[in-house]
Amino acid sequence: MTSFAAALAEAELVVEGRLVDASNATLLCTVDGRRCVYKPVAGERPLWDFPAGSLAGREIAAFEVDRLLGWEFIPLTLWRAVGPAGAGMVQEWCEESSIGEIVTVTPLDDVPTGWRVVVEARDPSGSPVALAHADIDTLQRLSILDAIINNGDRKGGHILTLPGGVVRAVDHGVAFHPENRLRTVLWGWAGESLPADIALDLRALRRTLGDVVPDVDRWLSTEESRALRARVDALLKAGSFPEPSEEWPAIPWPVF
Ligand SMILES: Nc1ncnc2c1ncn2[C@@H]1O[C@H](COP(=O)(O)OP(=O)(O)O)[C@@H](O)[C@H]1O
Ligand SMILES: [Mg+2]
Repeated sequence: MTSFAAALAEAELVVEGRLVDASNATLLCTVDGRRCVYKPVAGERPLWDFPAGSLAGREIAAFEVDRLLGWEFIPLTLWRAVGPAGAGMVQEWCEESSIGEIVTVTPLDDVPTGWRVVVEARDPSGSPVALAHADIDTLQRLSILDAIINNGDRKGGHILTLPGGVVRAVDHGVAFHPENRLRTVLWGWAGESLPADIALDLRALRRTLGDVVPDVDRWLSTEESRALRARVDALLKAGSFPEPSEEWPAIPWPVF
């Protein structure tokens, strides 16, 4: 463990405030002089399709899968046994992050050249607008991470860019459902062939997941662990980016 990881897991957590656009009790804290996000299990809003109190663990499982892939989208995310509002997850805060730089809703005429349009709609005055995202390999990988973890809530506001163009991803509580729940703004490559480097990383991940991986599987039910492996197998077999399901709303609302 790095010293920051150790502090994040055990040093005193000081609550600075609540994140206003968060749907659960998501608290901005400081630990050892650095900011972090703290999501206590006790603050989780019950959801009909997930076992109570399981969202914080799903965020950690998502972080661990991202780490196995070596893609580094998800900031350091750990379990915290003790905290001001009880046990939960803590996550390193991304300083100077901005949203909307690589995913946006914009008048159709203003979609940057080369971007992928996901859907077109009309704004209240009837003018055409589009949900669109950049056509960059980083976002391709993020869309595949979401398919692997079965992310049910990849909003534009959960994709952060840091100075220098580094992309980070947050909010993975609603993930790892055993049935298809993929809901995302990143459909720009649906049905297209997977780039060779992504397929290579998926194969390596699948080999690792051939055994039980305690850091991942301890947060999931047996059925969810099995479904995780099955999704990686299915992606490799199809060799393409997933396509929206007809049984499930494929785009989150609001999109940010
Ligand atoms: N680690 C982080 N670093 C920087 N900003 C973050 C981080 N985690 C969350 N945020 C910001 O706070 C918002 C709310 O957090 P989120 O994880 O979406 O909470 P909730 O699970 O309650 O929806 C995010 O949309 C993002 O803008
Ligand atoms: Mg959120």
